[in-house]
Amino acid sequence: MRALSIQNLTKIYANGTEALKGIDFNVESGDFYALLGPNGAGKTTAIGIMTSLVNKTSGTVEIFGHDIDTDLESAKACIGLVPQELNMNLFDSVLNIVVNQAGYYGIDRRTALQRAEKYLSELRLWDRKDDSARNLSGGMKRRLMIARALIHEPKLLILDEPTAGVDIEIRRSMWDFLRRTNEAGTTIILTTHYLEEAENLCRHVAIIDEGRIIEDAKMSEVLRKLQREIFVLSLRDPLTKAPTLPGFETSLRNDGELEVVLDAKDDLNSLFDVLTRAGISVVSLRNKANRLEELFMGLVEGKHQVSGGQGD
Ligand SMILES: Nc1ncnc2c1ncn2[C@@H]1O[C@H](COP(=O)(O)OP(=O)(O)O)[C@@H](O)[C@H]1O
Ligand SMILES: [Mg+2]
Repeated sequence: MRALSIQNLTKIYANGTEALKGIDFNVESGDFYALLGPNGAGKTTAIGIMTSLVNKTSGTVEIFGHDIDTDLESAKACIGLVPQELNMNLFDSVLNIVVNQAGYYGIDRRTALQRAEKYLSELRLWDRKDDSARNLSGGMKRRLMIARALIHEPKLLILDEPTAGVDIEIRRSMWDFLRRTNEAGTTIILTTHYLEEAENLCRHVAIIDEGRIIEDAKMSEVLRKLQREIFVLSLRDPLTKAPTLPGFETSLRNDGELEVVLDAKDDLNSLFDVLTRAGISVVSLRNKANRLEELFMGLVEGKHQVSGGQGD
C-alpha cells in the first residue's frame, strides 16, 4: 500500500507565485523519504497541501488510498504533522499541549496521558511536563511538536525542516528518535535543505527545485550520481557513433562532441590513456555543468553548516 501518491500537483498563490508546477511522487508505506531542496523550492507548499492547510490549484493527492478531495477526514487521520513554524500555545503546559491534541482525534484522556508520558519520555521532555512551553529551548519546542504530532499514532509522520535551528547534539538525538519511529513501522517524510540530513536518515529522496521535481531516486543512487562528473570533449575528427572506452561511460552528442562520465575513482590521466589507445584526438575539454550539479553543490555547502552545527 502506498502511503502517499501525488499526481500533477500545482499551486499558484493568489499573488501569482507558481510554487508547484506539476509535481508527481509516490511514497511507499514504511519508507523514510526526503523532500530535499533549497529555500523557496516549494517544500512547505507541498506539505501544506498534503495536510490540507493550503488549497491546491490542481492535481490529486492520496494518503493511504484516501483522496483529500473526497475523503479528507480519513486522509487527515493518517497524518501527524510537525510544521516548519511553531504553532502551539506557548503559555500552555507541555503536557497539556500534547493531551489537548489527543482531544481533536477523540482519544480518551486516560490513553492520551499514557501516550503523552511515553512520547514525552522518549523525547526527553517528561521532566518538563508542567513547564509552560515558552520556557523551553528551541530544540525542546521542536521535540514537543514531534510528541504532539504522534499522539494519535499516525501511520504517516510529516516533518517540515525539523532540525532547522537545532544544535548538533539535539539534532543527532532527533535523528535517532526518528529512525526508531520509522523502524517501528511509521512512514516518515521530511523536508530539509541539508543533504547530510537526508543522507543520514532517508532511503529515498526527491529533489525539488523551483516547483519541479528534478530527481526522484533511492538515496544511494543519488549519492552515486553526486560523485560523478561529466566532461564534454571536442574531437579533432568527428565520430559517427560513441566509441567504446574500457572503464568509461560515453555518449555522442548531436553536435559531435563526446561526453564521458568520470566517477570518484577515475582520473583524467587514465581517460587520456584510453583515448590515445583508441586513436581519438581531443582538441578541448570542459566540465558539463547542469542545474542538478549546481544544486548539489549548494546542498553540499549546507552539509558543512550541519556538521558545524550552525543551522539557520
Ligand atoms: N502564502 C504565500 N503567498 C504567496 N507566495 C507564497 C506563499 N507561501 C509561499 N510562497 C512562495 O512559494 C514559493 C515556495 O515556497 P515554500 O513552499 O515555502 O518553499 P520551501 O518550503 O521549499 O522553502 C516561494 O517562492 C514562496 O515565496
Ligand atoms: Mg519551507
